[in-house]
Amino acid sequence: MAKVFLNGEIVDEGDARVPITDRGLVFADAVYEVVRVYRGEPFLWREHMERMERGARFLEIPLPFGPEELREYALELIELNECDLGVVYIQLTRGPAPRLHRFPERVRPTTFMFTQEVARPDRELVRRGVDLVTIPDVRWGLCEVKTVGLLPNVLGKEEAAKRGAFDALFVRDGVITEGTSSNFFAVRDGRLITHPVDNILPGVTRAKVLEIAGGLGLEVQERGLRIDELRACDEAFLTGTVLEVMPVRSVDGIELGPPGALTRRLLEEYEGLIEA
Ligand code: PDD
Repeated sequence: MAKVFLNGEIVDEGDARVPITDRGLVFADAVYEVVRVYRGEPFLWREHMERMERGARFLEIPLPFGPEELREYALELIELNECDLGVVYIQLTRGPAPRLHRFPERVRPTTFMFTQEVARPDRELVRRGVDLVTIPDVRWGLCEVKTVGLLPNVLGKEEAAKRGAFDALFVRDGVITEGTSSNFFAVRDGRLITHPVDNILPGVTRAKVLEIAGGLGLEVQERGLRIDELRACDEAFLTGTVLEVMPVRSVDGIELGPPGALTRRLLEEYEGLIEA
């Protein structure tokens, strides 16, 4: 049986118990991270921990474990579960308490982690690009916080699949914000365009890609792209921990063509980081 981490202990998954009054379960009062594992090593661990710390600070949930301590446990889990290629899922909840909305006075936060095998993105998809549809961004106003309240994302992905698409893009006031579990980039006249970190998730992969783009001397516009501007775009791609850099072939039937030169360049550089 797979091993998991719960509040400082590594136990069999079947023995990991969390009270049903845990606020993560009852109120989605929790933050989480999904960290990639390549060759048994967590990828961009520090960046993920920094985002989790920011989220926890915002929600006033004290962190029971430091980033280094958690990394040691994560490495132990990866080894015990022989998870060479996959993800480590980490969740921090406010903890169990009587069901009252206000923050409880005395509460012990719940921290848990598990590993999951996840393959690299399908090579064929990366080669031809994915088809997306747009859906209204019905989420709340604090999308910078990586909380586990993911129903709009779950419903969005479900709708995309039912419409025969790979995934969905959220659209707010005619502007593309991000994917259901990824950030969105477009390329127009040689410039990269991506939504600013304003009520979207500040993706770790997004930040890496922006760093790479900076190093390549590419011009970047952090602004919202209107859906009616898509026809004028030359390329588009998604970024995310699991998807890495995924070329987009079409959005709502608007063809963007096979992966463009800039997308391929950024993909190559990102894969270089993974290999390193
Ligand atoms: N999701 N936007 C949203 C809404 C996300 O849920 C994610 C990640 C991203 C990309 O962020 P990053 O590059 O840090 O993975 C953007 C994770 C993978 C998930 O919920 O499975």
